[in-house]
Amino acid sequence: MSGQPTARRTVLKGAALAGTAGLGAAACSTESKVGHAAVPTPTAPVDLGDPEDVPVGGARLYREQRLVVSCPAQGSYKAYSAQCTHAGCVFDKVEGTEGHCPCHGSRFDVTTGQAVQGPATAALPEVPIRVKGGKLVAGPEK
Ligand code: FES
Repeated sequence: MSGQPTARRTVLKGAALAGTAGLGAAACSTESKVGHAAVPTPTAPVDLGDPEDVPVGGARLYREQRLVVSCPAQGSYKAYSAQCTHAGCVFDKVEGTEGHCPCHGSRFDVTTGQAVQGPATAALPEVPIRVKGGKLVAGPEK
């Protein structure tokens, strides 16, 4: 009779361990989803409004659209995802041509997409951008 409670405890312990292992697996798959290559970019054209809003020689953050646009010379634009390649946070600001991630402090050169300060190491994905009908339009042509 005295062996029964022990056996029961063993079963419960086993179930608890199985639960923990399950959680671990879920956390890992979430991590890999927000990892480097999974940063989303627009799948349809995104209207960003007046091109003049982007300063020549500088950059502007479009936080809602998760994009950052730089203007190396009058009439010339480059766009990148404004979603950090470390764990997927969206930039909170752009200072000059440097995008800042509020989560763990990564910084990116938004004229090239390169990470200039970790923990992020992967570059931002480039997004096509053009001026159409007097407006800046990012994302694929439609
Ligand atoms: S998510 Fe940007 S630094 Fe971690």
